[in-house]
Amino acid sequence: VFSIILFVILGVVVAWYISRLLVRPLFQMQTYMEKIAHGDFTPIPDAECKSQEFSSLFQAFNRMIHELEHHQEQLLQSGKIAAIGTLTAGIAHELNNPVNNIVLTAEALKEDLSALDQEEAQDLIQDILVQSHRASEIVRNLLDFSRSEQPVSEPVNIVHILRDTLKLVQNQVTLSGVEVEWDLPSDLPTIHGNPKTLQQIFLNLFINAIQAMRGGGTLAIRARTDNSGQWLKVEVADTGTGIDPEDLPHIFEPFYTTKEVGRGTGLGLSVSYSIAQKHGGRIEVKSQKGLGSTFTVVLPVGEEG
Ligand SMILES: Nc1ncnc2c1ncn2[C@@H]1O[C@H](COP(=O)(O)OP(=O)(O)OP(=O)(O)O)[C@@H](O)[C@H]1O
Ligand SMILES: [Mg+2]
Repeated sequence: VFSIILFVILGVVVAWYISRLLVRPLFQMQTYMEKIAHGDFTPIPDAECKSQEFSSLFQAFNRMIHELEHHQEQLLQSGKIAAIGTLTAGIAHELNNPVNNIVLTAEALKEDLSALDQEEAQDLIQDILVQSHRASEIVRNLLDFSRSEQPVSEPVNIVHILRDTLKLVQNQVTLSGVEVEWDLPSDLPTIHGNPKTLQQIFLNLFINAIQAMRGGGTLAIRARTDNSGQWLKVEVADTGTGIDPEDLPHIFEPFYTTKEVGRGTGLGLSVSYSIAQKHGGRIEVKSQKGLGSTFTVVLPVGEEG
């Protein structure tokens, strides 16, 4: 009996020892791998490892973490530089047009002022005003785009925002012969965010949709929560031109536009995306050339702003 008990105790001790030696370090490693998956590149501390074999494994692991972190930083850096390049090229190009026009018109006005009648002079001044507004709109959009301060966070009723925003473009809707279809359930949850910037997302999406339906069409505005109840999804769907598969991966980039010079800046969607991101959300797109496009704004229902 004694020898059986001794045997069992020995078995337990050996099992415990093996588990200490093998299983614990593996669990630790798993913890650190999960951290990496979440973007945390903390190396495993030396003290965590007692056995020789695992110590060299941990060191190799730490070297890998270090390399990964280094490569990720490089990627981030080159991505940022690329974005800054796009941004400055775009700003220069976009601002150059209106500023040139302002200079030319002002020079004409200065030279011919005595020869112009009242109405002609008025027209030129009006041109200068329109171009100046265009320039300041570009700058305003850029400021919205680069602003990184915390958004104001207050309870927001998305239905009110959508209805108010549509009023701003009602004229263009009517002129383009666009039909508006609403599907807004009455039990939508309140979300938290900045009503002004959220409105800007939908304004940009509505304008894009209207511009894509020159010959009329249907603008469908739908909202619902997803199955988990954690996300509010607002769909803005049009039956317009659709987006070329070649353009689709780029439409959220700053200054990417397929519209003729003077019509589009290519900032609408990039500004909208950064606003959605600041609210902890995102914008998804589905589009088929010739049939139309659906943009889905996904926003968290929780407290976060
Ligand atoms: N609803 C849509 N239907 C078809 N194409 C679209 C739609 N929305 C966006 N696009 C495409 O994505 C591009 C980028 O859109 P974005 O709103 O960022 O810029 P823009 O409309 O060209 O200019 P801006 O909004 O600055 O006046 C557009 O030029 C267009 O090619
Ligand atoms: Mg736009």
